[in-house]
Amino acid sequence: MGYFLIGLLVITLSMVNIIEEANCEISPTILSKIERMNRMGPYLGIVAPNNFELNPLLASQAFVPYPSLPIIDFAGRRFRFGKISNQRVVIVMTGLGMVNAGVATQLLVSLFRLKGVLHYGIAGNADVNLQIGDVTIPQFWAHSGLWNWQRYGDGIDNELALEAAGDYTREIGHLQFSKYSNRTDNLLNRIWYQPEEIFPVTGTPEVRQHVFWIPVDKSYFNLARQLENTKLPQCVNTTCLPRPPKVTIVERGMSASVFVDNAAYRTFLSSKFNVTAVEMESAAVALICHQQKLPFVVIRALSDLAGGGSDLSNEANLFGSLAAQNSVDVLVKFIGLIPHGAKFASSSSS
Ligand SMILES: *[C@@H]1O[C@H](CO)[C@@H](O)[C@H](O)[C@H]1NC(C)=O
Ligand SMILES: *[C@@H]1O[C@H](CO)[C@@H](O)[C@H](O)[C@H]1NC(C)=O
Ligand SMILES: *[C@@H]1O[C@H](CO)[C@@H](O)[C@H](O)[C@H]1NC(C)=O
Repeated sequence: MGYFLIGLLVITLSMVNIIEEANCEISPTILSKIERMNRMGPYLGIVAPNNFELNPLLASQAFVPYPSLPIIDFAGRRFRFGKISNQRVVIVMTGLGMVNAGVATQLLVSLFRLKGVLHYGIAGNADVNLQIGDVTIPQFWAHSGLWNWQRYGDGIDNELALEAAGDYTREIGHLQFSKYSNRTDNLLNRIWYQPEEIFPVTGTPEVRQHVFWIPVDKSYFNLARQLENTKLPQCVNTTCLPRPPKVTIVERGMSASVFVDNAAYRTFLSSKFNVTAVEMESAAVALICHQQKLPFVVIRALSDLAGGGSDLSNEANLFGSLAAQNSVDVLVKFIGLIPHGAKFASSSSS
C-alpha cells in the first residue's frame, strides 16, 4: 500500500511537471534562471538568423560561454550566455523570415536586461558596386513586404482601398507589374509599399504609429565606421574573389519574408529604394528594437547577387560560408569597439 501511494505520488508529480512544461507561460524554474542571469546583466543581445550564421560564432574562440549556466531554453528558442571581448552577451537564433525574427527578438528584449542588440548574418546584394564577401552596415532598414495590392484597372491617381481611413498610403511608391511584361497588359496591376504600424513602448497602447525607414543607433553606427579598414579573407580554398572583401557603411537595407532571386526585382529595389542588403530578418529585428527603444545595429555580409549573378554565378553555394564567417569576424571586432558599461549607446532615434 505504501509503495502504491509513493508510486501514485511520483506519477502525479511527473504529470504536474509535464503540464508545467507544456504551458508556454514562463515557469518558476525558468523565471528564477532568468532572474539569476539578469542580476549579472546588462548584456549585449546578439541575434543570428540561422544555424549557418550562428555556428561560426559559437565556434569562434572569441565566444567564451559561462560555465555555470550556459543556456536557457524557452518558447522553442535557446538563449546562450557568455562573453565576447569581455562584454557579457546573450545569443539567440531566430529562424527564417520576419515572423521568427520578430518573435525571437521580442522574447530576447522582454526576458533579459540588455544594453543593446546586435544582429548579423548574410544577405543578397542589390548594389552593383559591391562584391560578394563584402560586409555591409546599413544606416536604415525597412520592411519591403507590407503591400496594398491595387485592383486591376485602377491607375496611379486612384485612391487605394482603405486609404482614406489612414490604413494605407501612396506616399512610399509602388511596383508596377506591366513594366516587366513582355507583351501586353498585366492583370497584377501595382503593389504599393506600406509603412509598418508600430506600438512603441513610450506610446499609448493600441494607438498606432507608422514607420518605414528605421534608423540604426547613431552611436553604434558611428562606431561601425572604424571597421572600414578591416582585413578579410579573399579565397575559399583555391577559389578567390576578384578583390579582398571590405567592410562598408551603406545607406539602406530591406527585408521581407521573400527570398529574392530575380534580377528585375533586384534592380527595382536598388533603383527605387537605393538598397544594398536584401534579406529576410533585419527589418523585423529593427522594428522590435525601435519600438522597445533599445539601441541596435545590423552587420550583413553579402553572399549572393539576389538574382543578378553573372561571372560569380551560383555565388551563395561557394561563398556563403566565407560571407557567414566574415559577418562573425566583423561582429566580434565591433563588440571589441563598444565601451564597457551600460550607459554608452544613445537612443535609436536618427
Ligand atoms: C518576349 O517575347 C518574345 C516573343 O514571345 C520573345 O521572343 C522574347 O525573347 C521575349 N523577351 C524577353 C526579354 O523575355
Ligand atoms: C574547402 O576545403 C575543405 C577541406 O578540403 C572542404 O571540407 C570544404 O568543403 C571546402 N569548401 C568549399 C566551399 O569548397
Ligand atoms: C545610395 O546609397 C549609397 C551607399 O549605400 C550612397 O553612397 C549614395 O549616396 C546613395 N544615393 C542616393 C541617391 O541616395
